[in-house]
Amino acid sequence: MPYQELLFPGGSMDTVLPVYKDGVVASFYNDCVVAAVRAIVDALPEGRLLRVLEIGAGTGGTAASVLPALRHACSCYTFTDVSESFLRAASKIFAAEYPFVEYELLNIDADPRLQGFASAQYDLIISTNCLHATPFMRNTLRNCHQLLAPGGLLLINDAQPTSAFVQITFGLTDGWWLFHELGDPERVGYHSPLMEWEQWRGLLEESRFRQTVCMRGAGFLQVQAVMVAQKGGAATSAESVTRIGRENGAQLFTGGLGGLGLLTARVLVKEAGATRLLISSRSGQVQRGSEADWEWLATSGATLRCVRSDASDPSEIRWLVQSLSGDNWRLGGVFHAAGVLADALLAGQSAQRFCTVYGPKVHGGVALHRAAAQSPVSTFLVYSSAASLLGSAGQAPHSAANSWLDAFAYWRRSICGVGQGLQWGAVAEIGYAARHGADTRAERSGSGAPTRAMAYEALSCALSSHWRLAAVVPIDWPKLLGPSGAGVGMTFLTPHRHKGRAAGREERAPTKAAQVPARGTASTSESLVSFELLLQLVERTVGGAVDADAPLMEAGLDSLGAVELRNQLQQARLRPHPHPSPRAP
Ligand SMILES: NC(=O)c1ccc[n+]([C@@H]2O[C@H](COP(=O)([O-])OP(=O)(O)OC[C@H]3O[C@@H](n4cnc5c(N)ncnc54)[C@H](OP(=O)(O)O)[C@@H]3O)[C@@H](O)[C@H]2O)c1
Repeated sequence: MPYQELLFPGGSMDTVLPVYKDGVVASFYNDCVVAAVRAIVDALPEGRLLRVLEIGAGTGGTAASVLPALRHACSCYTFTDVSESFLRAASKIFAAEYPFVEYELLNIDADPRLQGFASAQYDLIISTNCLHATPFMRNTLRNCHQLLAPGGLLLINDAQPTSAFVQITFGLTDGWWLFHELGDPERVGYHSPLMEWEQWRGLLEESRFRQTVCMRGAGFLQVQAVMVAQKGGAATSAESVTRIGRENGAQLFTGGLGGLGLLTARVLVKEAGATRLLISSRSGQVQRGSEADWEWLATSGATLRCVRSDASDPSEIRWLVQSLSGDNWRLGGVFHAAGVLADALLAGQSAQRFCTVYGPKVHGGVALHRAAAQSPVSTFLVYSSAASLLGSAGQAPHSAANSWLDAFAYWRRSICGVGQGLQWGAVAEIGYAARHGADTRAERSGSGAPTRAMAYEALSCALSSHWRLAAVVPIDWPKLLGPSGAGVGMTFLTPHRHKGRAAGREERAPTKAAQVPARGTASTSESLVSFELLLQLVERTVGGAVDADAPLMEAGLDSLGAVELRNQLQQARLRPHPHPSPRAP
């Protein structure tokens, strides 16, 4: 017998409705929701009206309970669901008595802005037994956060994993298992989509909610919970950034004279009021492109101490941390930005190249952790890479070392509460990637190049949030995923697959202006590449004019560029170019 017949015999809701409406547990928690709504209404300033959104409002059980409490305190109550039939039924029930209710389709798993919902427009979001049923919890909470105005409240009434009844009953439905089929990273290995309060709280905090509380009854009532979380307002995040300045500890940087190190130092001084910076690198030289940030810092009034120190040498890191006490400085934060590359195709990789990259990143990370073990630092930020998230051809040591850093940040957070990682895309304007044209290549591949302004914003957010790990990659989905939507074949990109398909439709109509065939659109199969076409591909790869008689490496084609050129030739179904220069026979 199909489960629909069991739960909804003859298409009727009569068997299921009492579970929601009349059960002791359902009534208890419905009353909790109403009590919370009344408390919110009571706290409203004179004349202030609430804008309320209900997600997954279904048969209207929650709306029927809370609408009386909102009658004189609500300018609009948006009743939403993914099914239009619920909206039609609800409008018949509520329209006459509650004219401020509006009825809209909303899938909270997808970006609300693409469904006609403006950001920051609600003061209160209510959801009963719905949010767990979405495939990716982080998407869901991010979308809720986006819909709330600063200071707005999210009120979640949801079953707990202790509820065997709910599991057995609704485990019959297909929707129950979406989290498993699509592989929600938050619920890997779970036998149900339901989450304990502790996990809700962690996710809410990582989704930039604060002041999270949980209401739960005793004994058999523990199968459900009503949870409330508040969206931090602008003042709150600024408050937590300025914490760094108030604590007045010294901020220690490895790789601090590079593009991202100096930008971070600037953010710390400007946004967080940091006054003491210990900046280390091997050469003591400001990296090209960051002179303006250095000059700004030098005149900012903050005390800067620059030290030559090799992060891959544990004894130098120990000395660096100990040197703080000589100035009567206390270690307040660690920013681990030291890094070098040793790129080569896999066949050209060697243990030596891995050591070169692992030295500053991995051994440096361990040494910093050990040296800082006695200091209660408020920040320990590691500079990882999108190469860890998405992979990167020719950068095996870099991908591996940054994956290690990601895991290290997680681990450090779990053992002492402080540890964060930022996976950088190829940043434009400043830093290593910009100096070597990797930002241009990232733009072309679709993984995107964050601008300096984006990097500044990301650093400000990281300092004011509790994220463990965040990626700074302004992805161009159509480009990255390609026409088939299959993209780089990673399951965590599944929710975005449709974005690639949309692009595929556009890519099938190439413009005449496109002289170089778009990827995958060449008409020739296995033909030898013409000189003109090859020259254009090489110029596109290195991002400028190329001397056709010069060796490719001299023309600026580094190992990553070579991989990209080869990929372009293969995708255009042309034979890889075997020659040292574009013109060579
Ligand atoms: N920029 C990006 O787009 C991007 C993308 C992904 C990841 N990242 C990561 O972010 C971090 C910073 O990148 P960035 O763009 O700011 O690079 P950058 O401009 O090249 O700066 C790197 C800094 O690290 C220092 N350094 C290198 N090896 C060191 C060592 N063994 N000990 C101490 N200092 C060392 C360099 O100075 P010396 O040579 O004088 O020592 C330099 O000051 C790196 O870990 C990088 O892997 C950056």
